Amino acid sequence: MKIGVFDSGLGGLTVVKALQEVIKGADIFYIADTKNAPYGEKTSEQILQYSLDITEYFLAQHNIDALIVACNTATSAAIKTLREKYPKLILIGTEPGIKPAIEQTLTGQVGVLATPATLGGEKYQQLALRLAKDKEVTLYEQACPGLVEQIEKGEIHSSQTYVMLENWLKPMRDADVDTIVLGCTHYPLVAQVIEKVMQRKLHLIETGAAIAKHLLALSKEKGHKNKGELHISLYHTSTICLDLVAKILKQDISMESISL
Ligand code: DGL
Repeated sequence: MKIGVFDSGLGGLTVVKALQEVIKGADIFYIADTKNAPYGEKTSEQILQYSLDITEYFLAQHNIDALIVACNTATSAAIKTLREKYPKLILIGTEPGIKPAIEQTLTGQVGVLATPATLGGEKYQQLALRLAKDKEVTLYEQACPGLVEQIEKGEIHSSQTYVMLENWLKPMRDADVDTIVLGCTHYPLVAQVIEKVMQRKLHLIETGAAIAKHLLALSKEKGHKNKGELHISLYHTSTICLDLVAKILKQDISMESISL
């Protein structure tokens, strides 16, 4: 099986890390579109165009069977069009895990961290409205502009990253939030800092494992045996932080700079 995975940068590698746990006998082609990052501060038209260009690249260069949109922001802007345009592809997007968060919270106070584009998107608004009706919960939504850039620079434990998170999370700490949805695939990379700022044990909700499970089920239906090695190739459209790649994947991978 050939799997294309993309994100604006290295955040989507948190999804690849989850794929490493369950997917075997496959080639993963990952695009970090760092030239256009951050997606979360672009228009939905721009994000849709980047997503289409990347999908075309995957199909032309690697003839992929499956596409994982390892980016909440691109999923919000592009998944509908991608499904219409490529009906034969196994196609899985990434959405903020509000449902598991609502199920797990004990205080009924749930934080949602995501990019401005994801929180402002119609997809998120509908999801939040529908799920918040199921159980009495209060959602504290917080856009985090600038956080993706900090992570892409490898500045995970820097004082600037800490101060940004302190400002965004203080209202959640005061409101007894016990569960936070990491609604951007970059944010699991600052999970430790979030826990430190919140000064408590939290449920941090990410969706990589659910995506991997879903891919396994869909690919088995199409005859994938799930045996053998997993190869990963990373392509980037501008510079990347190599230390961060090594920290996330802990496996040798090939890397190449491309232009789309
Ligand atoms: N990793 C992304 C997401 O899940 C996109 C971040 C960005 O480029 O703004 O939303």
